[in-house]
Amino acid sequence: MKTLVELEVSGKRVLVRVDFNVPMTEAGEVADDLRIQTALPTIKLLLERQAKVIICTHMGRPKGEKIPKYSLAPVAEYLAALLDLPVTMAPDCIGPEAEAVVAAMAPGEVVMLENLRYYQQEVDNDPDFAAQLASLAELYVNDAFAVSHRAHASVVGIPKLMTAKAAGLLLEKELAYFKRSCDQPQRPLVAIVGGAKVSGKLEALENMLARVDRLILGGAMANTFLKSQGYEVGASKVEEDLLESADRLLQEARRQQVKVYLPVDVVAAERFAPDAVAKQVTIQDIPPGWMALDIGPASVLCFQEVLADAKTIVWNGPMGAFEMDAFSRGTTAIAHCVAASHALSVTGGGDSNAAIKLSGEAANISYMSTGGGAFLMLMEGKELPGVAALA
Ligand code: 3PG
Repeated sequence: MKTLVELEVSGKRVLVRVDFNVPMTEAGEVADDLRIQTALPTIKLLLERQAKVIICTHMGRPKGEKIPKYSLAPVAEYLAALLDLPVTMAPDCIGPEAEAVVAAMAPGEVVMLENLRYYQQEVDNDPDFAAQLASLAELYVNDAFAVSHRAHASVVGIPKLMTAKAAGLLLEKELAYFKRSCDQPQRPLVAIVGGAKVSGKLEALENMLARVDRLILGGAMANTFLKSQGYEVGASKVEEDLLESADRLLQEARRQQVKVYLPVDVVAAERFAPDAVAKQVTIQDIPPGWMALDIGPASVLCFQEVLADAKTIVWNGPMGAFEMDAFSRGTTAIAHCVAASHALSVTGGGDSNAAIKLSGEAANISYMSTGGGAFLMLMEGKELPGVAALA
């Protein structure tokens, strides 16, 4: 895989695939700019070297329809403000209009193509669509780590058609941090895995067993593990069909001498609502009909101990329904513990990152990955299709 600095870009049209699939407010403004900020080094380097920078990305899942709320126009404006340079918005990503905008570019200028997913062919990795996009440029750069797990036209189709291609600085950095934290970690390595569902994370958990020394499980997915060990978890979210898999994973952890830590207490509520009646209970005492929505203070203390001497921490998924204030304390407390540790700390996933920001600890985390699904795919031990396509 070539790196950006190896490309001769001066005066050339460079198509840069970024992931600017950023959360937007109701008013249509950028709500979180991590993915834009982190792509700036690549864009700036290309501009310094007098490239014609053509940016392409998806936004949301418009399923091939030109839905205005998924337009990239506000993102182009936001980027222009960050760069302090004009960013020309192309009204389409392929076709005569896009071609005309690109043809008029001078070195050191930036164009943003309209949402790639306004075409279903993007998601289908349609070869003609990929060829049309590729024809806009002479070089291709993938700086979209967060979508590199998708075998889409702009991620896999284009680089297969182009010989002059490279990884952007963000993609390189993401892979380097993953390697440092999961492939060649300083030990002990502790993984914290939470979030709503076991189903999306089972493969990642299985693969991580071979790498980690300790595993902390929290969030709604911990309920399935607790129930698999015979605890009554009331009306908590449980994936009944995965009880056996959860039990098997815990057995496998024992076999591999990985210590697994589950919550010992939770904040249980009568219903899933911010104003629900709630109380702290041990996991033996969840009342019938109540649901666990956060880890409790005893679990926090226990997890704090587990993290105290960690040299490396990898965190994916919140400890509870942190978006509701009443159930955010566990996740916030864990964010404080991770930030206070002397470990290399790497976090991934939109929810974990949002929770870390809420806790005010973002600056104290070694690296917050921009990827959710892509980060998980690496945790599963797989190669990202977008990275393979750069070879
Ligand atoms: C993400 O937000 O995880 C990436 O942008 C990928 O988006 P997708 O899940 O809609 O493919």
